[in-house]
Amino acid sequence: MKVGIEAVDEDHRVLFAIIDEIDALLGRDGPIAPAALADILARLGNYVRIHFQREEEIQSEVGYPGLEENRRHHGELARTLEAFDGRVRLDLDQGADARATAATMRSFLAVWITEHIVKVDRKMRGRILPWSG
Ligand SMILES: [Fe+2]
Ligand SMILES: [Fe+2]
Repeated sequence: MKVGIEAVDEDHRVLFAIIDEIDALLGRDGPIAPAALADILARLGNYVRIHFQREEEIQSEVGYPGLEENRRHHGELARTLEAFDGRVRLDLDQGADARATAATMRSFLAVWITEHIVKVDRKMRGRILPWSG
């Protein structure tokens, strides 16, 4: 699933590592504390912003034609993360078990990020020099 630009591939590894933290929560017995999920979501949101910015800058610098498509997809995920944030806040307010929210987030994010890398990010493979960025 490599794109061939080290900074981008490293970012993708970090994003999957954060999603794995949701997996780890789901793998434990008992209820999931909403604060634990909120912490993961906050770090994911930050890293997603950093990564999207980095990717779009690299593409913009070389005049990559797929930049707008990539940017549009990125906007979609940013809006979805806001929706997840609302769900987690609700769990926090109600002191609820965040397991259902965590499970929804986990399956959505793993699929979205994998598909985005394969269908959108990978199109820049071989079209942007590996030392760009
Ligand atoms: Fe992207
Ligand atoms: Fe990416």
